[in-house]
Amino acid sequence: MTFCEYKPGLEGIPAAQSSISCVDGTKGILEYRGIAIEELAQKSTFIETAYLLIWGKLPTLDELEDFETDIRLHRRIKYSIRDMMKCFPDRGHPMDALQTSVAALGLFYSRRALDDPIYIRGAVVRILAKIPTMVAAANSMRRGNDPIQPNDNLDYCANFLYMLTESKPDPLSAKVFDACLTLHAEHTMNASTFSAMVTASTLTDPYGVIASAVGTLAGPLHGGANEEVLLMLEEIGTVKNVRTYVENSITNKRKIMGFGHRVYKVKDPRATILQELAEQLFELKGHDEYYDIALELERVVEEELGSKGIYPNVDFYSGLVYRKLGIPQDLFTPIFAIARVAGWLAHWKEQLAENRIFRPAQIYTGLHEQTYIPIDER
Ligand code: ACO
Repeated sequence: MTFCEYKPGLEGIPAAQSSISCVDGTKGILEYRGIAIEELAQKSTFIETAYLLIWGKLPTLDELEDFETDIRLHRRIKYSIRDMMKCFPDRGHPMDALQTSVAALGLFYSRRALDDPIYIRGAVVRILAKIPTMVAAANSMRRGNDPIQPNDNLDYCANFLYMLTESKPDPLSAKVFDACLTLHAEHTMNASTFSAMVTASTLTDPYGVIASAVGTLAGPLHGGANEEVLLMLEEIGTVKNVRTYVENSITNKRKIMGFGHRVYKVKDPRATILQELAEQLFELKGHDEYYDIALELERVVEEELGSKGIYPNVDFYSGLVYRKLGIPQDLFTPIFAIARVAGWLAHWKEQLAENRIFRPAQIYTGLHEQTYIPIDER
């Protein structure tokens, strides 16, 4: 058997064939099922986009209404799931709470044949419907409050913001949040999607698939970066500290959060849209001083690292948008997960359609023919 060259992080190695989304990292283009992300963020909704990603086509009006109604009907979570979540430690990270709760769904909803389209649709609906409720419920309970029940009169995004804050969001906030979810819904092959696909390839249940993807998204080099961006802006403190911060980071080989991408070598198109959304929110709800720091940071990083293709990624401006929406900082990554569930489910379905279990090779670098040394002789 011949081996290809070993590439750490599998950089540039195709791990699957997919028709779900496509990125051109040098032109800054992202398409879902061939439609530009700019168009979807402006004209579609997150739920319609989720349908597009998962079923591969835009829904008709009837299909969309059925999908939305089913999701609305499944938003509530069982008392026993709430009781389980009540026992989570107050200081645990909400991503850990989410991963545990999603995995637990597998205990409550029994597994059926993965070639049964009714089961597949039911699982898609249940996962999309319940994840926002679980994120909001865990957030309420860690503060000692009862969870806020989903409001059937509100759409997906407005309902999530309502469950977080107990007040109905203004239309711009709901619309901006919806666009944020659309922008984060899918992004070709990345660590969490790959993780979902590897798990899916074993033909385990969909809750296990999503739980493994949530665990992968949690890391600071992936979904966790949006939270780190705000911590970094707080650490920088003022616009005049920006250059020193960047220079020190470069000298100490410390990554500047929210910048750089394995694929994009120009500004991430999602960062451009998120920046516009942030500006719309600032106009309605007042300026954010951290935005001035962010703008200066973008300028200085471009000057210092632009030649290496280091530009803002999706996480750079999303934190500022969520902060303006009154969302707690440690919920930024769970919100990323709420959105990315659509992409993970699309890849789960695609994997099932032509499954082959992932079983890559390795290059062994260890010893051979060692003898066992009894414990008292070591
Ligand atoms: N700040 C400073 N320098 C950087 C940054 C950064 N954010 N990102 C990359 N570089 C530099 C590296 O130091 C390296 O320089 P060198 O060639 O002189 O050694 C070069 O650019 C290449 O960087 P790699 O780390 O090899 O690039 P890779 O493709 O492996 O990493 C990653 C991509 C992980 C996103 C990286 O850019 C990073 O850690 N960024 C910060 C964390 C972040 O924002 N993550 C979110 C990514 S988007 C997402 O997951 C949703």
